[in-house]
Amino acid sequence: MQIITLFPIVSALLLALAANAEVYFKEQFLDGDAWKTRWLNSEHKSDYGQFKLTAGNFYGDAEKDKGLQSSQDAHFYATSARFEPFSNEGKPLVIQFTVKHEQKIDCGGGYVKVFPADLNQADMHGDSQYYIMFGPDICGYSTKKVHVIFNYKGKNHLIKKDIKCKDDELTHLYTLILNPDQTYEVKIDNEKVESGSLEEDWDFLPPKKIKDPEAKKPEDWDDRAKIDDESDTKPEDWDKPENIPDPDAKKPDDWDEDMDGEWEPAVIPNPEYKGEWKPKQIDNPNYKGIWVHPEIDNPEYSPDAEIYKFDNIGVIGLDLWQVKSGTIFDNFFITDDVKEAEDFGNETWGATKGPEKKMKEEQDEKKRKEEEEKNKEQSTEADEGEEEEDEGEEEEEEEDETDESPEEEGDPDALPKDEL
Ligand SMILES: *[C@@H]1O[C@H](CO)[C@@H](O)[C@H](O)[C@H]1NC(C)=O
Repeated sequence: MQIITLFPIVSALLLALAANAEVYFKEQFLDGDAWKTRWLNSEHKSDYGQFKLTAGNFYGDAEKDKGLQSSQDAHFYATSARFEPFSNEGKPLVIQFTVKHEQKIDCGGGYVKVFPADLNQADMHGDSQYYIMFGPDICGYSTKKVHVIFNYKGKNHLIKKDIKCKDDELTHLYTLILNPDQTYEVKIDNEKVESGSLEEDWDFLPPKKIKDPEAKKPEDWDDRAKIDDESDTKPEDWDKPENIPDPDAKKPDDWDEDMDGEWEPAVIPNPEYKGEWKPKQIDNPNYKGIWVHPEIDNPEYSPDAEIYKFDNIGVIGLDLWQVKSGTIFDNFFITDDVKEAEDFGNETWGATKGPEKKMKEEQDEKKRKEEEEKNKEQSTEADEGEEEEDEGEEEEEEEDETDESPEEEGDPDALPKDEL
């Protein structure tokens, strides 16, 4: 009975909790051209690529799936949107958006950067200081990863784990969760792909322990497990020549000593040769084991419970380079509530992914049939004796991949630069 009477109260409480979710930023591009008043293109360079609003070549919903699409090949892009500044102190921070590389991306960024509110948006560029960089990055076959970069005390730190990103042409949902207990989680399509702790998975702090600089291996430390057996001696008959004259060799009948010189038989390896003599090995009675360098607490290390904290979050931006353009960014969502973000992901990406895939498959099937028809016609024409070049192959597949992402892997300072 009590459970039943409590139920409305509990639900009301849950509702209240859900309603408490703070949504700092939400952008679905549902109001036509109005996004242009919210997103500001950087003027740091004069030739940034243009984003256009479109749902692309295939989609689940012609209106809802409209997002910002990069529209010029081999261009840098730099645009950003502002929101009421906030601090994530003591609260989770969730950054989420969708990416669709419908162009079969060869090389280009698909990530967002989250900036301090004092960013000069009109001058945003590759070196502008940011708090967080998150999302997929693809270049050739070797780079297909999800970046998770945090700025800590003015320096950018890359995650040490390798997180693979999606590389197909469909829309995918990327979510980063940063918790005040200094743990994090990365989700793709609302499923966890990586998680852990900030301290372990990035090099924010110097190591906790270091080798004691005072400690040295004692001079008389014997780390030889085996030694020569002193009582062992070389047998008298050990030494034999390594090579001997071939006993089967015969002087050829027509050998002329005047002409050919003195005949000598060829040499062959001596079957009795035993190599260099070495004494037997015995256990070393003085063996002390491998010397282990003692460690001490690193005086440079001091724990920091606020690595996760960003005081003045206020701008989200797309600052990236693309060789083959066509990527669509949509459904940006920044909140302090993990479930709210999951819900939003379900309502947006979750609702349109099925129909989108279906439309794509139908288009692919139609294309395949057209190719087939074309090839059939051509082979009939060829049979009729006409010479015909085979144009059935897509020539667009061969894209130049020499353009490298402006990013150098592994080096935390080598972040996307637009001044190359
Ligand atoms: C989102 O959708 C998935 C799959 O349908 C479901 O398991 C999950 O509970 C949903 N999340 C929310 C917050 O409703």
